[in-house]
Amino acid sequence: MTILVTGSAGRIGKRLAEALLQRGERVRGFDLRPSGITHPLYAETPGAFDDAAAAGAALEGVTAIFHLGAFMSWLPQDQDRLFAANVEGTRRLLEAAITARVRRFVFASSGEVYPEGMPESLPVTEDHATRPRSAYGLTKLLGEELVRWAGRSHGLPFTILRFSHTQDAAELLDPDSMFSGPRFFLQPRIRQQEAFGNRAAVSALRAADDGAPAMVMARNEKGRPFRMMITDTRDMVAGLLLVLDREEMTGETCNLGATLPVDFGTVLPAMAEITGWPLRIVDLPGPGVFYETSNARFRILTGFEPAYPFERMLEEAATAWRAKRMS
Ligand SMILES: NC(=O)c1ccc[n+]([C@@H]2O[C@H](COP(=O)([O-])OP(=O)(O)OC[C@H]3O[C@@H](n4cnc5c(N)ncnc54)[C@H](O)[C@@H]3O)[C@@H](O)[C@H]2O)c1
Repeated sequence: MTILVTGSAGRIGKRLAEALLQRGERVRGFDLRPSGITHPLYAETPGAFDDAAAAGAALEGVTAIFHLGAFMSWLPQDQDRLFAANVEGTRRLLEAAITARVRRFVFASSGEVYPEGMPESLPVTEDHATRPRSAYGLTKLLGEELVRWAGRSHGLPFTILRFSHTQDAAELLDPDSMFSGPRFFLQPRIRQQEAFGNRAAVSALRAADDGAPAMVMARNEKGRPFRMMITDTRDMVAGLLLVLDREEMTGETCNLGATLPVDFGTVLPAMAEITGWPLRIVDLPGPGVFYETSNARFRILTGFEPAYPFERMLEEAATAWRAKRMS
């Protein structure tokens, strides 16, 4: 039995591949980049998902696939690459999976298939309308539809998991992290908003910038701090492992992530205390981010219980921060 993990060089894919190897599974990675994993039961197929020959080679002899690889970008100039990797790439992998008669196709979708930032009800459950607002969310929804179609038309056994926002604990206090930099640190957030062309946000943020390193607590225009789900990579991996052997997860679509949302009003002061950097509170134009997905369905179906709530992640992030300062 060989299990294919796409995105094997990525945050979640690499950890999942390592966890599967630890369970004694034979694992193949498929990514544009090398994962750096060395293990007697591990092999790698380098290549792009939308390359039919590479996808065919990656799926040869495979019994199950975790399709975790994707291109994540919210920049308008990245849209061609986004649709090629996430939509055409998923179609190619499905084609190859049907030919290889795989017994399980697990697809990493995203909470962005819902209208993030404008939910009709909270917490967002699986029956909430799917109306993505970002092009990235749209590529994930199109990916889901391709997966369901392969299930309907070709009998491909699939499971779709809509991932919450996911990070490594050490990333939380890393200003260079693609996620945490713009989320929690002032200057990276200014650069991000400049790249998005959000002029009003840029001027609000710049007004708080005196040039020294600082953290930022984003609030909406009414002064309400943002709130969102942040899940530890290890919890996502634990959830993914639960799916593999459960027949009852075939054909299911579930949210996967932490149980409770993270309130920026509570955590940012604690984060600033750890870094020793000043905390700038900035009210950004617009309704802001107040987002909460429910993992209840997945927990009921699999017994999943996240082990790394945000407070625990932050403790580890603090250790990583101090270690970096001392090195
Ligand atoms: N991390 C999150 O917050 C989050 C939230 C929701 C959904 N997801 C989904 O979970 C999955 C894993 O996320 P992650 O944080 O590990 O992502 P990541 O960016 O760390 O890893 C993605 C990997 O996919 C590879 N890749 C991208 N385009 C490719 C292509 N065309 N061909 C081959 N390889 C390609 C990249 O090289 C990278 O190693 C993705 O599908 C992502 O969309 C992630």
